[in-house]
Amino acid sequence: TRPPLAAARDAIAAARRIVIFTGAGMSAESGVPTFRDALTGLWARFSAEALATPEAFARDPELVWGWYEWRRARVRAAQPNAGHGAIAEFAARRAAEGSGGVTVVTQNVDDLHERAGGPAAVHLHGSLFAPRCSACGAPGEFALADPVEPEGGRRLAPPRCEQCGGALRPGVVWFGEGLSEAAWRAASQAMDACDLVLCVGTSALVHPAAALPEQALRAGATLLQVNPGHTAFDALARFNLKGSAATVLPALLCGKH
Ligand code: APR
Repeated sequence: TRPPLAAARDAIAAARRIVIFTGAGMSAESGVPTFRDALTGLWARFSAEALATPEAFARDPELVWGWYEWRRARVRAAQPNAGHGAIAEFAARRAAEGSGGVTVVTQNVDDLHERAGGPAAVHLHGSLFAPRCSACGAPGEFALADPVEPEGGRRLAPPRCEQCGGALRPGVVWFGEGLSEAAWRAASQAMDACDLVLCVGTSALVHPAAALPEQALRAGATLLQVNPGHTAFDALARFNLKGSAATVLPALLCGKH
């Protein structure tokens, strides 16, 4: 039988419509702190669940807004890695060849897929770059396009909505909140229509996002996984490539070794 990477490349070449489903591991090699890594400095004594909720924001908007601006500054200081680049190059090549679409569905709130030049990702959990008014929901503007935040972080008053004067909030999905209807519908339709779903850097633990690749399987798709660790998708993957995004994706998608 062919080596897994070659067989996985054959399956990708044979696929007409591909969804690439990514999680925090996709951005690990860009040095973006994962959700839990970001509990440092001013926020070290909190749990993610204690900060990433509407209640926490209502109780102390400056503590929560400061945390998200600190995380946004860390993302702005990071660069897309070779994995983001491989996805962008792959999607561009398939579009040029007319050999079928590529949809990126991500659980990440960073903008590294976009900054790598790849297709605009469907952000299931929102984005650090889409603030909105906590009162009227209107899209908001940052005070600083590229925030400069001290290493230990600081409290920051959220900017005011230009429409109604309400406080802006991060455009991310908090614990206890539902996913945006539009994002869920786009992701769900892509999963139902694809014949291959490539899962990269997700622990497959957080629902409802983690149920999406199984929806693709039920629609007859093949599931591939790239992850150095073990996840719930191990049992569902036809090819399970044990390695990191920045190493495996250039080989898998662009034939680079
Ligand atoms: N390349 C690929 N995968 C990696 C790498 C890497 N370099 N480094 C780590 N991983 C894998 C880990 O093995 C793990 O399976 O990435 C996964 C990261 O899992 P999580 O931190 O749970 O990230 P994710 O699955 O995206 O979490 C989903 O939970 O933290 C909340 O809302 C947040 O969107 C996030 C959601």
